[in-house]
Parts: sequence; C-alpha cells; structure tokens
Amino acid sequence: MIAVIGSSNMDIVFNVDHFTLPGETQKALSLDFYYGGKGANQAVAVAKLSEEPVCFCSCLGNDDYGKEISKNFQNYKIEGYIVEKNEKTGRAYIEVDKSGENRIILFPGANEKVDKLRVDKFLNQYGKNIEICLLQNEIPMESVEYAVSRLKKENITIVYDPAPVGGTEIEIIDGIDFLTPNEKEFKFLCEKTKIPFDENDPKQSMSTFKDLSKVKNLILKMGDKGVYYLDEQNNFGNIRKLKVNAIDTTGAGDVFNGAFAVAFGKSKDLLKSLNFANVAAALSVTKKGAQSSIPKKEQVLSHFQITS
Ligand code: RIB
Repeated sequence: MIAVIGSSNMDIVFNVDHFTLPGETQKALSLDFYYGGKGANQAVAVAKLSEEPVCFCSCLGNDDYGKEISKNFQNYKIEGYIVEKNEKTGRAYIEVDKSGENRIILFPGANEKVDKLRVDKFLNQYGKNIEICLLQNEIPMESVEYAVSRLKKENITIVYDPAPVGGTEIEIIDGIDFLTPNEKEFKFLCEKTKIPFDENDPKQSMSTFKDLSKVKNLILKMGDKGVYYLDEQNNFGNIRKLKVNAIDTTGAGDVFNGAFAVAFGKSKDLLKSLNFANVAAALSVTKKGAQSSIPKKEQVLSHFQITS
C-alpha cells in the first residue's frame, strides 16, 4: 500500500493578468475553488493512478471545506485522515498568471495538528501494510522529521518532497530513498550546505549534495529543463520536459511524486517511473486546478507503459 503523510487544503484560486504588485489592487479574471494541499494532491494522484486504496495521515477542520474534502477522499478510497474539532481546514490563496505560473499564500489551519502523536497512531495502524510513503513540508517539520525516523526504522521506502521551500534540515534526509526538490528547493538546500549551484550544469552540485546528505536517489525537478536524476549507483541523466500547452502548473510537482510512487511500487524501475511521472505531471498542467487536473491512469498509460 502507498501512504502519504501531509496537508489537505481548499485552494482558492484567482486567475490574474499578472501577479499583484506591492500596494496594487487588481481585479481577478476568475475565481475557482479546487481541492488541494501538497499531501492531498499526492494522495489523490496515487489513488487515481493506481486505482487502489491509499492511506493518508492528514487533518481536516470541522467546517464546510473539511466536509467537502472528506467526501472527495471517500470517492477515491483514501482513508486514515481525521477531522479536528474547533479547527479550520487548511486553505491556500493562489494567484495564477497568464503563463500558468502561481503564487501561494498558505493558511495551515488543521494541518498544524498533524503532530508526532498523530503520525504514531497512523503508523501503528497502517505501518505493516505500507511499502512506500510520500512526505512533504506542509505539516509541522518536527512531524516530518519524526515520520522519517519511524519510516526508516520500519524499512518503508520514503519519497520526500522538500516543498514548500525552507524548513528541511540536512540531518533528516540522511539515507532517504528519494529526495525530489524542484529548482528553488534544491538551491535552498545547496545554499544551506554551501554547495555552489549551476542551473545549466546541475550534475556537480547534485553529486556533491548527494555525497554530503547521503540521500540514496536525488531527483531534481527543473521545470522547462526537465528532470535530472542521480541514482544510488551514481548514474546521472535527464528526462526532457514534454511539450504541452501549460495553463496552470499548480500541483504538478505533487502529481509527479504521486505518479512516481505508483510506477516505482509496480516496476521498481527508476527510469520507467520517472518517465511515467513526467508524463502525468505534463498532462496535469494542461488543466486548471491541483487535484482536478490529475490525469486518469489510462491517459498516462496511453503515453507510457509502467509494467516491464
Ligand atoms: O503544490 C500545490 C499545492 O500547494 C496547492 O494545492 C496548495 O494547496 C499548496 O499547498
């Protein structure tokens, strides 16, 4: 079973002509509500692409957003999350500009309640059935660190997205199976560890960072430049970005990680899994919203076969 430990949000999305400048007031071109949150996006991506139940350690608020999100989870056979009394469901206020890029203000709300105790209860209940667990940074960092230490002890494969940027301590990623930063997140990690980063030639910094952090596989999501990988045997490569008409990039990184976990769980083949994830993420940016844009398994499979 694939598990996710992370956030759930309601995304309140404003399509705008340009990102609002300091002191400026502009009219939004449209307003939409989508299910989001990095953890939930990954959980739904796994559910949609594997067509299997997913366990998800997350907290919703006891409000209308929480009720709606809970119904959505039930549709996808996502279990393990809880509803916290007297808490507001997390929400993200998102501006999407004409090129499909986004800016996000996050209100964590109930996501702050994913504490060590919750992680413990979740892993006590589901741990034995979990093969791969996905993590990100939208819950308290001490919970992420705690989850990593327990997952390692239980030999569960960890796919960790150090997003949003900040918070990730180098000590916690020691020995992690897959670290999947985007360019900004990797730059942050390089600055923290005083490793020079050259975006046109990331191989050297990836290699230095991998040696220092002892991450097993480093997967660098570089947007237009595609995905770079440096695997356990130090094989380095690049998977080119697919050419698509990008409308909204929100959640593309989450779709990538969910799809990667599904494909790796089935094939144990890094390259195949990265290609599958690359297709899923590319398809997702052609539609609006985070979870609403996650492609169906057949759509991805028509571009790429997972099984060997
Ligand atoms: O990664 C995209 C997600 O980040 C959005 O769905 C939003 O909720 C923010 O958490």
